[in-house]
Amino acid sequence: AEGTGDGTETGTESGSEGDVVPDNVVIGSDIPYRPFEYETTSGELTGFDVDIAKAIFEEQLGTSYEFKPTSFDSIIPSLKNNNFRIIMSAMTINDERAKQVDFSDPYFTAYQTVIVRQDSDIQTKEDLRGKTVGVQKGTTGADAAQQLKSEFNGELELNQYDQVTGAFQALINGQVVAVINDNTVNAEFVNNQGEGQVRFLKGEGAAAESGENAPDYLTLTVENYGIAFRQDDDEFRKRVNEALAAIQENGTYDEIYAEYFEG
Ligand code: ARG
Repeated sequence: AEGTGDGTETGTESGSEGDVVPDNVVIGSDIPYRPFEYETTSGELTGFDVDIAKAIFEEQLGTSYEFKPTSFDSIIPSLKNNNFRIIMSAMTINDERAKQVDFSDPYFTAYQTVIVRQDSDIQTKEDLRGKTVGVQKGTTGADAAQQLKSEFNGELELNQYDQVTGAFQALINGQVVAVINDNTVNAEFVNNQGEGQVRFLKGEGAAAESGENAPDYLTLTVENYGIAFRQDDDEFRKRVNEALAAIQENGTYDEIYAEYFEG
């Protein structure tokens, strides 16, 4: 491993799976999930997670890293099968997943939100009763839709897509009346690819109940993203948590945040 720049050691030179900090960190991720992980028009991988990975691995731990595209629905089994070392995929920390993986400290707060077509007559959550909503398979958005379905005593249809782009396309095409998904990813679609065609469902919700700075759109949940590790990878997880704390302290995290969320 190269020097770390922070005076700490980076494990052995072998690059084998057993290293505390590998020479090259292979990261499982479902792409595209804009603005967290996506390709630019020229085919370059970019996004908030990608820049955070660069800061943690290249700058703090002195290792290289690479993203390995993986279906989100099978991403935890894939991690357990050693297809990659960690998951960075805008992944929400929750109890069910924590039975199977260990998470880093939280690095991002997100909400489940609902978007509909601009000309839709759906104005409130209750208007979704009896309708069909689109979600990405295996996500907390799918969980939130399932939750809503129970609130409606089963009167909600879920169409599940392998990738979030499939759900967005189905919304534009009219196959679903709404998409339930992470706020910043929905916002990216509302403001860019789907501009003028889709809007957020307004209202209060989980974010307002949890405290300050609630957005003006409906929030179904409050969630935190974490980096996921195999349960036998404690030493590496510790090193990554230290690196995460370091980039939060030295301003790098804020710079990256501003680039994607205050532009
Ligand atoms: N935050 C949500 C979850 O953990 C959605 C994540 C989807 N990520 C992705 N890269 N497609 O379920």
